[in-house]
Amino acid sequence: MTLPTSVTLVEVGPRDGLQNEATTIALQDKLQLIQDLAAAGHRVIEAGSFVNPKWVPQMADSEAVFAGLTRAPGVRYTALTPNLQGFERALAAGADEVAVFGAASERFSQKNINCSVAESLQRFAPVMQAAAQHNIPVRGYVSCVLGCPYEGDIAPEKVREVSAALLDMGCYQVSLGDTIGTGTAGSTATLLEHLLATLPAERLAVHFHDTYGQALANILVALQHGITTIDASVAGLGGCPYAKGASGNVATEDVVYLLDGLGIDSGIDLTALVAAGARISKVLGREPVSRSARALLAKGS
Ligand code: HMG
Ligand code: MG
Repeated sequence: MTLPTSVTLVEVGPRDGLQNEATTIALQDKLQLIQDLAAAGHRVIEAGSFVNPKWVPQMADSEAVFAGLTRAPGVRYTALTPNLQGFERALAAGADEVAVFGAASERFSQKNINCSVAESLQRFAPVMQAAAQHNIPVRGYVSCVLGCPYEGDIAPEKVREVSAALLDMGCYQVSLGDTIGTGTAGSTATLLEHLLATLPAERLAVHFHDTYGQALANILVALQHGITTIDASVAGLGGCPYAKGASGNVATEDVVYLLDGLGIDSGIDLTALVAAGARISKVLGREPVSRSARALLAKGS
């Protein structure tokens, strides 16, 4: 199969990565991380989340994050918005793009956003309308595409239905979330073949958590299926507060190492990215999860 010549990486570390941290991270450390990521070449950075701060306290300072950004030219700073209230906060804060987030699993939807899948789509409708009025692009996430912590296996057809609904509402792209990282190369191929029968590859992105160490293999399968947008989190930060035991997203450093090896352009400077991951890992008091980052740091580069 042919591989793409370039891909877009969506850096979700400052949001998906940090949202799960138990101790409060200083605003200045968040701003430094976002600045480091832009300096490493990231062009899309998920910088915050306008959800109920009682549900996700770590994202409570998202207004301050957006207010404090040193904006690099050509970089889109994006945020999660679960409802109109979240969208209004994101708009006032100056987010360049927002994301609504639904699920292919009813029970995960209830736990994560306190409503059914059908109700979530109704809640997103006014967000889509308001975003269109303000020319703000909206991305859609679908969680639990390769398994749910509460329901187990998820039918590819359910993922297709929710993804198609989000695209029909006006999301420019749907990011397929393997929230608990249980997907394998085989199940990823089965899912993508089902989706790509009716949905165009350029409207889909992949978002793998790496709980079972399968994310890089799954990304290679996605690339072979023509997917050209990949979500990743520097240093492998993260997890989901509503998916107990799920580890962070695939580490961006490992994805860039894979892409560099394949000759696929991501626009990211791996050395600068490793330094960004090392800096935030030091703040958090641990080693980067990324194997590539650890190897490169051990070599002193
Ligand atoms: P709800 O309780 O159903 O909302 O929560 P509500 O409309 O009934 O309002 C209840 C209270 O929440 C009210 O406050 C509202 O003002 C407040 P009160 O009167 O009780 O003081 N509220 C808000 N406050 C600030 N910003 C808002 C907002 N909305 C309501 N936007 C809601 C519904 C969605 C808000 C809630 O369930 C929530 O915040 N959930 C957060 C879930 C979350 O952030 N999960 C992690 C991100 S998703 C993820 O990680 C997966 C992903 O990475 C992909 C993957 O890996 O699969 C994207
Ligand atoms: Mg996630």
